[in-house]
Amino acid sequence: MCGIAAAALRSKFRMEMIPLLLEFLKALEYRGYDSAGIGVYDEVNRRIIIWKKKGKVESLAKILRNVRVRAPIGIAHTRWATHGIPSDINAHPHTDCKNEVAVVHNGIISNFRELKEKLEESGHKFVSDTDTEVIAHLFEEYLKSMPPFEAFEKTIRSLKGYYAIVMITSKDPTKIFFARKESPLVIGRGSKGYFLSSDMVSLLGSAEEVAVIEDGEYGWITEDDYFVTGKNRRELSFFKPSWTPQQAMKGQYEHFMLKEIYEGPTAIKETLVGILSDDNIFKAAEMMDEHVVAVAAGTSYHASLIFSYLYMKHTGKYIITLDASEAPHYKNLLRGTVIAVSQSGETYDTLKAVRLAKKNGAKIIGVVNVLGSTLDRESDISLRLRAGPEIGVAATKTFLAQLTILYALTYAKVGMDLEETLRPLPEVVKESLEMSAGYAKALANKLYQKRDMYVLGTGISNFVAMEIALKIKEISYIHAEAYPAGEAKHGPISLAEKGFPVLIAWTPEDEDKLEVADEEFSSRGSEVYWIAPEKDIPIPKVSWEIVPFAVTPPGQLLSYYLAIKRGLDPDKPRNLAKSVTVH
Ligand code: F6R
Repeated sequence: MCGIAAAALRSKFRMEMIPLLLEFLKALEYRGYDSAGIGVYDEVNRRIIIWKKKGKVESLAKILRNVRVRAPIGIAHTRWATHGIPSDINAHPHTDCKNEVAVVHNGIISNFRELKEKLEESGHKFVSDTDTEVIAHLFEEYLKSMPPFEAFEKTIRSLKGYYAIVMITSKDPTKIFFARKESPLVIGRGSKGYFLSSDMVSLLGSAEEVAVIEDGEYGWITEDDYFVTGKNRRELSFFKPSWTPQQAMKGQYEHFMLKEIYEGPTAIKETLVGILSDDNIFKAAEMMDEHVVAVAAGTSYHASLIFSYLYMKHTGKYIITLDASEAPHYKNLLRGTVIAVSQSGETYDTLKAVRLAKKNGAKIIGVVNVLGSTLDRESDISLRLRAGPEIGVAATKTFLAQLTILYALTYAKVGMDLEETLRPLPEVVKESLEMSAGYAKALANKLYQKRDMYVLGTGISNFVAMEIALKIKEISYIHAEAYPAGEAKHGPISLAEKGFPVLIAWTPEDEDKLEVADEEFSSRGSEVYWIAPEKDIPIPKVSWEIVPFAVTPPGQLLSYYLAIKRGLDPDKPRNLAKSVTVH
């Protein structure tokens, strides 16, 4: 995962290098927060300087508070550890033996051990346990016999695995070298200069235009130019980002997660505007004929499970949703039309399934939030959410926007009027949030010290229960497990005892089943709470189809308040990163 960024600045902005890189890192922190680091070329003393620190960007910012450096080029990194424990030493940037290079990397260099061994034999001294350090030493080695950019090209050619890399060297302090293989990388340009980043959200305040670096491409940027090559040398197609810098700020909210929960109605509304503005949804519905499967991970997987259920109810046909990480085991199913659902459009497992499907000749329908992301570009039809940037690690508003697209796809398939069926959805979410917020907070105050809990559902609310359980465990670290209400008696109920909490995700489909489960658990001393009309966390009474829009938002709020009460940062849950670009 990790986030990388770089800036090549025009003369009058060079004192701003460090604050600017820190700003990029703050916006990229959702990609990992095991450590953070910055490397710049100090043009006064003509040397590379690196600062890096275990922990969040804030810790790095503290040590840089009084540092003033004039730098034309600089790179930055926020880490989600893969090789080597989180520590100051393993933090990026990494350098060579002479401190003439600084490199940051997102991805995995799979042949780093062989390369490291050879380099050590030729006298290179390594200080970290990371795969990344090998890039700096390899470059140093090649630099002995060729100019910097050629040495960089040769370095890239020696690497196996996948990566987005940015590198600076004191041997050519006007350029920042970059390369991309599978991990995301965008280029931006604005009045201050040229920039690189794993995610354009971090560049919203600085770049007026952005362009996507394609897989297999590499090149350089300077303060006023760029060069890209790969299979072809090419001109980039720059576009203006449709997101604003304000969308990527917390505003009046204490956390991004809370802000994004409350942005649910707008995310649906905007997504609906997008759906109605062209005929992509109908083209996609037409592509769903013979054999159709869906792939997705995490929250997107739950959105897709709801889609499978809804589609089955409306058409009598079942579209299997595969958990993306398991999809390679089912590769014979990855043919016909494959619907890939991903907020980031960069999830490794989902992209891998898409690529397997393409090999089988499948057509791809992408359901994706990030414009220009890999899935967005690799899909035959990309159905874009218009949820705006989602910064909190937990997916909230984008879950609802994904559902909006997937509902539209189902309704388009059966010839229902999209505007009429989907228009009420934002209001349902708004009403549900208004009705439930105080109660969700009060219940969190009651449950925050619990260690485990069940979330039960039936029919469509099974998948809502799964999503709420995921949210609770990832944000509050309370072990929450979802079960179909009727299944609970086949084993899970053995945990029922005095004080064991059970949350019921309501649906009107088969309420009896939920009532029976309540009885079974309550009679054994469990505390049973409902997200349901006129119950513990009240919500509007809706038809079964609308349940995900009415029940999920209070579940999101509950998980948020559980985290707050437990003193945790809901925007940055431990061990997680927003965009999981590793397998
Ligand atoms: C949960 C969460 C993750 C993501 C999953 C897939 O709140 O955010 O489970 O849903 O990593 O990510 P995307 O949708 O970007 O493919």
